[in-house]
Amino acid sequence: MTIISNGHLWKYSEFIENKNFSFDKSKILNLLSKKDIDEAYLSISNWENYSPTPLIELNKLSKELNLNKIFYKDESKRFNLKSFKALGGAYAVEKITKGNKDIVVATATAGNHGRSVAWGARRLGLKCKIFISEYVSDARGQAMAELGADVIKVKGNYENSLIECIKQSTKNNWQIVQDVAWKNYTIVPKYTMAGYTVMMKEIIDQIDQNKISHIILQAGVGGMAGAMIAGIARYLKNVPITLIVEPDSAACVMESIKSGKIEKIDIKKESLMGGMSCGEVSLVPWEILKNSVKFCISLPDDDIAKTMKFLGNCSFSEEKIIAGENSAPGVISLITSCENDKIRERLKLNSNSNILVIGCEGDTDKEMYQKLINQ
Ligand SMILES: Cc1ncc(COP(=O)(O)O)c(C=O)c1O
Repeated sequence: MTIISNGHLWKYSEFIENKNFSFDKSKILNLLSKKDIDEAYLSISNWENYSPTPLIELNKLSKELNLNKIFYKDESKRFNLKSFKALGGAYAVEKITKGNKDIVVATATAGNHGRSVAWGARRLGLKCKIFISEYVSDARGQAMAELGADVIKVKGNYENSLIECIKQSTKNNWQIVQDVAWKNYTIVPKYTMAGYTVMMKEIIDQIDQNKISHIILQAGVGGMAGAMIAGIARYLKNVPITLIVEPDSAACVMESIKSGKIEKIDIKKESLMGGMSCGEVSLVPWEILKNSVKFCISLPDDDIAKTMKFLGNCSFSEEKIIAGENSAPGVISLITSCENDKIRERLKLNSNSNILVIGCEGDTDKEMYQKLINQ
C-alpha cells in the first residue's frame, strides 16, 4: 500500500504557528502541580484491573513517511471503557467524594466522559445522574445506563444538557463532576486532567523519554492536550515539538492561539470527531496551552474513515488497532504534514524524528465504528 501517492491525498484545512510560544515548565506545573500529577498516578495505578495501555509502533507508516519511529498510545484498551477518558472522570469522582457514600454525582457528556463518571460512581457504590443531549447516540446512552447511571436525555445540544445538569444538581444537591472548567469551577476539571497525565507516566516507562521529538495532541475543550503538556513538564527532560489537531469546524484552540485570548466558535456542522467537536477551550487547559503549544492544525472529516480502516487492517503497523473517530486525527495530521514540504520543514520532521500520537479511543460506539470502516 502506498499512502503518499499522486500528490496530496490527505487533507488539512489550516496550519499555524503560535507567536506566543514559550514553554515554561515551572509555570505549567503551577497550573497543574507535580503533587496533583503524582497523586493521580499513585491512586489510579492501584485501581483494580489497572494496567498501562500499549504503546504500538506504526512501523509501516514511519517507513513510508521516512520518519524514524511513530508511537501510538492505544487507549482502546483502557479499563474496558475504551478511551483515555476513563482516567479523568472516575478519578475526579474519587477525589471529590472522599469515601462519602451518600453523595450523588452528576455530569453532562457527549459520551466518554460520562461513561468514566458512571464507572467511577459504580466503583465506589455511588448514585450517578448523566445528562446527554439529543445528539448523543442511543448506544452511548445505553453504555452509561448499563453502568448503573440514570441517563437523562435533554433537548438541544451539549450546552443545553450542561445547563440542565447544573439546574437539577443545584436543586437536588448533587455533586457535578464536569471535565470543562468555568469561572469558580476549576478544581474538578483539574482532577480530570491530573487523571489523564497517567498516560504520560506510562509512556516514559515504555520508551526512553529522550526519544520523543514530536507529540501530536487532539483537542476538544483542550483537557487532554493540557494534561499531556503538563505531563511533558513533569516527566520529560526535553521539550518535544507539539502540534494540536482539531476538526476544522470546531478549531477553538487554534482560533484562541491565533488571537491570544479565548475565542468562541459557532459550530455550524458537528464533526465526525464527536468528542472534539467543542466550541470553546476550557479555562484551565487554556492557561497551559496558550504559551506551551508550538503549532496547530485543523482537519476536515474526509480522511477519518480511511484512517480508521488502515489502522484496523494492519496497513500502518504489524498489529491490528481498533481506533475510533477521535483517534484518527493524530495520524492524519502527521501524514498530511509529511506530504506538504513546507509544513514538514516547519515541524522539522525527518528521518530522525520519533513521533508520539495518541489513539485516544477504540470503538466506543460499535455501530458507528463498523459503519465507518466499511465505508
Ligand atoms: C474520545 C474523545 N473525547 C474527547 C476528546 C477531547 O478531549 P478534551 O475535550 O479534553 O480536549 C478526545 C480527544 O481527542 C477524545 O478522543
